[in-house]
Amino acid sequence: MAAPWPPCRRLPHWTVCILAAGYALVQVHDCLSRFLAEPVSSHRDTVFMDQLPTPAITLCNPNLSGYILDRLIFKSNKYLYDLPWDEEGNETIPYLLDVAAVGAKEALENCRLRGRPCSTVGAWSRRLHSSVGDCFTFTPNTSEPIQVGDGYEVTFILPHEVYRTSVETLYVLRGNSFLEVRHDRSNVRLSVFVHPPDEPFSSLPWIQPQEPLYVRPGGQAEVRVTLEDIERVSQRHLPCESRPGYSSARCSLLCHAEAASAATGLDCRVTDMPTTAALCGNFANYSAVQRAFTTAAGAQAAMGECRQRCPRPCRQRRYLAALGSSLGQDETRLRQFSMRIYYGGEPVQLYRELWSYGASALVGEAGGVLGLMLGLSVLSVFEAVSQLVESIVQRVSARAGSAINVLD
Ligand SMILES: *[C@@H]1O[C@H](CO)[C@@H](O)[C@H](O)[C@H]1NC(C)=O
Ligand SMILES: *[C@@H]1O[C@H](CO)[C@@H](O)[C@H](O)[C@H]1NC(C)=O
Ligand SMILES: *[C@@H]1O[C@H](CO)[C@@H](O)[C@H](O)[C@H]1NC(C)=O
Ligand SMILES: *[C@@H]1O[C@H](CO)[C@@H](O)[C@H](O)[C@H]1NC(C)=O
Repeated sequence: MAAPWPPCRRLPHWTVCILAAGYALVQVHDCLSRFLAEPVSSHRDTVFMDQLPTPAITLCNPNLSGYILDRLIFKSNKYLYDLPWDEEGNETIPYLLDVAAVGAKEALENCRLRGRPCSTVGAWSRRLHSSVGDCFTFTPNTSEPIQVGDGYEVTFILPHEVYRTSVETLYVLRGNSFLEVRHDRSNVRLSVFVHPPDEPFSSLPWIQPQEPLYVRPGGQAEVRVTLEDIERVSQRHLPCESRPGYSSARCSLLCHAEAASAATGLDCRVTDMPTTAALCGNFANYSAVQRAFTTAAGAQAAMGECRQRCPRPCRQRRYLAALGSSLGQDETRLRQFSMRIYYGGEPVQLYRELWSYGASALVGEAGGVLGLMLGLSVLSVFEAVSQLVESIVQRVSARAGSAINVLD
């Protein structure tokens, strides 16, 4: 038999041994359950950088959002109902964008990124988002960083074929004539979003929570951009996705688009969805899919599942934009929104999640308790095991020896 553990050789010592072992067990169990709960601590830091990633920008003319649309261009009270669905079919919305904002291409001609014309360093795309309006997104096709103080200079001009302004009134083209639109001049505004270039833009808060910045016409708005760099750890109950190229916004858009199709039984899309299906071809289908996809009530059913299917990314960059001073105010330029969107030199905010009780902390603490209470160490365990093996080997060879003796 192996020698008993040295301190537990005599009866009174057993009491101490049992108490120590019990205490050690409770402590080790406590360490293990703390480790398994995966506690995380967050650290916040700031660094100054002079080379920063180039963001994408989206400018939305809110006067083409659903509610305004039918007031401006179509007389019906029903959203999008009076569009020429019968003649245009699934080309109705592209047709609408053509008639409602002709000249939109010229509207962005005065765009420069790092002093270079935007058209040489990326591309504009246009999409009607029912909640924020007629949106133009510029995606830079370069990974070149930009310097502090550098960025975009953009002038967005409301196309004059559609809008005509005097200081007091705005006129909107309807058919062949201009319609006077009663408006409060302080309300005319352009929404500006600054976002990562490798993620599709969406204004739906359950897909990509971001607040727009509102720029008013007539002046030169200063939009200062700051960057947040976030690193998360993947916990079992709150995993994060570290695959390169993964975008939670893209994943959620697809997930919610699928859910809207399933809920309506219609295999067509609305302009808010960047999927490949054809646009819905009549009002009934279009508005059904629109309700299922763009209203919180419609998307509710899929939210839990989509959040699970599309976890947060482990590494994420977030752009924040704030309106600085606005220079000048030219009362006669009611159709013109000029802005400079640039890094103002604020520090980059770093958010890091770290395990606050990881594997090495577990080994250290549990090992400390076992050593203190039971005298266990890697060496003593190794010694005990090798003694045990040695005594077994001795016994076996002794038995073999006696067997040989019997044979003799
Ligand atoms: C543009 O839309 C806003 C609300 O989104 C509204 O208050 C404003 O009057 C509209 N402007 C025009 C010219 O219709
Ligand atoms: C970026 O895109 C523009 C317009 O699409 C193109 O003219 C230019 O060559 C592209 N530049 C690079 C580096 O790909
Ligand atoms: C849309 O609606 C029409 C009739 O209301 C229907 O025949 C058609 O199959 C629907 N689905 C799509 C995808 O357009
Ligand atoms: C309209 O439908 C046709 C045929 O189904 C399709 O080829 C086309 O791409 C659709 N257009 C749009 C804008 O979805």
